[in-house]
Amino acid sequence: MDGWCKVLAAGLFGAGLSAGCYMNGATTVSNPSADGGAGASSLPCDVQAVLANNCQSCHSNPPVGAAPMALMTWTDLMAGSSAKGKNEAQLSLERMQATTSAMPPGGGIAAADLQTFQDWVSGGANKASCANETDPAPDPYATDPICTSGKTSSINNAGPAMGPGENCMTSQCHGDLTWSKAFAFSGTVYPTAHEPDDCVGSKGTGGLSVAVTDKNGKRATAKVIPASGAANGSAGNFYFFLYDRNGNKLLEPGPMADIVVTGTNGTRSMSETAPSGACNECHTQNGNLPDAYKPDFKSTAPGRIMAP
Ligand code: HEC
Ligand code: HEC
Repeated sequence: MDGWCKVLAAGLFGAGLSAGCYMNGATTVSNPSADGGAGASSLPCDVQAVLANNCQSCHSNPPVGAAPMALMTWTDLMAGSSAKGKNEAQLSLERMQATTSAMPPGGGIAAADLQTFQDWVSGGANKASCANETDPAPDPYATDPICTSGKTSSINNAGPAMGPGENCMTSQCHGDLTWSKAFAFSGTVYPTAHEPDDCVGSKGTGGLSVAVTDKNGKRATAKVIPASGAANGSAGNFYFFLYDRNGNKLLEPGPMADIVVTGTNGTRSMSETAPSGACNECHTQNGNLPDAYKPDFKSTAPGRIMAP
């Protein structure tokens, strides 16, 4: 019990954290080929596709089949055309719509392609970077289930290593009980997104922590206890008590906002406010949304809480 209390005390008085946002892996990546690379056309992907499918067999660089110019890049399309006061983009639109002298020769461009090109021209023919749109960051949640640590710790293993991955905040466990037992929030941090219950969680090298703000605006931080693998060591669990020893409330139970997991590699932030501090209730192996939350909380959790 002694070691447990020491660890707990360390988690009780955390400083506020500022959140750098990392949502669902939807980070912006800078792609080296996006600017200046061989494939850089500075055209939106869909416009580039319309030209590739209908025009670039002739309007290549250099152009072939007696076509007078290339239609490969934004710069090509902004060049002046043989029609006074019109650039090649504007004349291209006219020739796509034309019944005589249509482009491609003979006409027959698909209505959807024409619409795409028309929308782009009438929207100002803006430059875009297709490479960034087609190379999103890999989704960190698209991984197979695995117990990375290869170690388990059961729900009977009383102490801070107890039942990693499980929801311990039911009324029979650490729900709204006395000061010695009740948690304001708790959960488990894992190295990957779909780890099974009782699997020992993240090592937390360098110190992982979880910060939340309760409905009164009070910010609290809990340390993620490093997983040692020892029977009573830890399991990547974190927890923050609801009361102090004198029975004073440390946090208000219920909705937790501005949830941020911080580690040496950065942060991960939950964008929505969690309806409760029972983190593992939703952050199960496959992600979960208990019926009680369905009316006002729409999306299912993406899986486990992952170390950044
Ligand atoms: C009611 C279900 C629910 C509860 C309870 C819940 N979460 Fe979440 N969590 C989600 C959903 C859904 C998302 C994805 C959408 C979002 O970011 O809001 C998410 C996303 C996250 C993310 C961002 C993951 C990423 O990489 O984008 C973190 C971190 C997180 N939650 C931590 C926690 C912590 C810590 C707790 C407990 C204090 C908690 N969550 C409680 C449902 C929940
Ligand atoms: C089979 C080859 C071929 C294809 C495919 C083709 N073109 Fe052409 N294009 C030509 C030729 C040849 C000319 C020159 C004769 C003319 O203007 O009709 C030309 C001329 C043009 C001109 C006139 C340029 C100017 O400044 O006078 C535009 C604009 C044009 N094409 C746009 C397009 C667009 C847009 C597409 C695709 C939707 C396309 N072309 C597909 C062969 C092609």
